[in-house]
Amino acid sequence: MAGIDNSNGVRVRNKANRNKANQNKGTSNIPVQELSEIERQIARGVAFPSRVEEKQETSGNISSETRPIHKTSKQVDVDSEFRVLVAGDVHGYWDESSEAAVRKLKPHFLLFVGDYGERHDTKVWEIARFCGEFEKEQHGMACATLGNGEAKMYAAQRTPSNALYVREQLQKLRPFNPSEKPRSCRGISVVGGRPFSWGGGGNGWYNKRVFQQFLNLSSLNEAKDAIRARINAAPPNEPIIFLAHAGPSGLGNYVAAPCGNDFHEYPRGYDAGDRDLRDGIEYARSIGRCVPLVVFGHFHEAMKRGDRRWRQLIAVDCGTVHVNAAVVPRIRRKQERNEQHFVDVRCSQDGEIVKTVKHIWISHDGRVGEQKCLYDVNRGGIIS
Ligand SMILES: [Fe+2]
Repeated sequence: MAGIDNSNGVRVRNKANRNKANQNKGTSNIPVQELSEIERQIARGVAFPSRVEEKQETSGNISSETRPIHKTSKQVDVDSEFRVLVAGDVHGYWDESSEAAVRKLKPHFLLFVGDYGERHDTKVWEIARFCGEFEKEQHGMACATLGNGEAKMYAAQRTPSNALYVREQLQKLRPFNPSEKPRSCRGISVVGGRPFSWGGGGNGWYNKRVFQQFLNLSSLNEAKDAIRARINAAPPNEPIIFLAHAGPSGLGNYVAAPCGNDFHEYPRGYDAGDRDLRDGIEYARSIGRCVPLVVFGHFHEAMKRGDRRWRQLIAVDCGTVHVNAAVVPRIRRKQERNEQHFVDVRCSQDGEIVKTVKHIWISHDGRVGEQKCLYDVNRGGIIS
C-alpha cells in the first residue's frame, strides 16, 4: 500500500522504503547548498526535526525558530478518514456526559492514556465498562493503558491492600490494555508503552518496585525487550499507533517540551520521556513499520512549580506525530454547561498519515464549544 512522506509528498511504495524516506524527510528536492546545517543533519538522518536546536528555556510559546520542522506540499484527501479520539489524564473527570460525548462523536478508536482516579476510587471500573460498551455499540476499538496514578498508593505504601488494588485495576483493563498484547482493528495496530510509568527521571528507571511487582520487569532493558516483543506480535504490515502513559524521550530537553521535567525530583528541563518507548518507536521504524502516531499523557499541560506556563503538546519526529493529551482537568464548566476535553485525531483511511490533530471541548449533546487545531498536514504540519 502506498504511503506518503509527509514532508515532501513523495509516494513510497513499500514500508521499508517509507522508513528510509522518513529518514530523509523534507530535503530531497532542495539543493544541498541551500540547506542549513541542521537541515543537512536531518537529511542524513542524524538529527530529528523535533530536536532542532536542543531548545533553550523558552516561554510556553515555542518560537518559529525552535518549533519542529514538518513541512509538506502534498495535499491529502480530506474525504476519507479514520478518527481517533483521545481522553487525556482523567483524574476523576469522567462521567455520563463524557460517555454521551463519545457516542456523539463516533470515533473509530477511543484511547485512554491512564491516571483515572484518585486513591481507592472505582474510576477504572467505569472506564472498563464503557470500553466494553463502546466496542459493542460503535464497532470501534477502545484501548486503555494505566498511569502512575493507578500505582501511586502502592508506591507510597507497599501494603497487601494497595497491591491488591493495583492488580484489580490491571485485571479490569486487561481486555483493552495494548501493553498486555497489541490490539488490532481495521488494519491498524495499537501497541502499548509501559503502564504505571512516572517518566524517565534519574537513571530512566524510577519506582522500580512497581514494575518488578506488577509487570515482572527488572530493568530498563527488559522493558525495551517487552515493547519490542509487542511490536513483533502486532499483525505485519499494519501501521502502529503507540499508546502510553508517559511519552518517549527525544522530544526536547526543556521544561515546556512534551515530556520536559517540571517536577522537583530531577533537574528542571530534563527530558523525562521514557527511553524504552523511544527504543520501541525506533525499532518499529527500523523493521519497516509505519508509525504515524504516538499518544500519551502524564506531563500535564499546565506546568508545576509555579511556572504558570503551558506545555507544548505536539511534536513531529521523522514523520511521526507525537501528541500529549494531558489537559487537566478534562471537564470544565462553561456557559452553564459542562464541556469535555478530547484530542481529536483524523488519519487517512489506511491509518498511515495523520491529517489533523485538534483539541476540542464538547458538551454531552455533541456541541463543540471550542476547538484548536494543533496540526494539519495540508497546512504544513504543526500550527503555531
Ligand atoms: Fe496525570
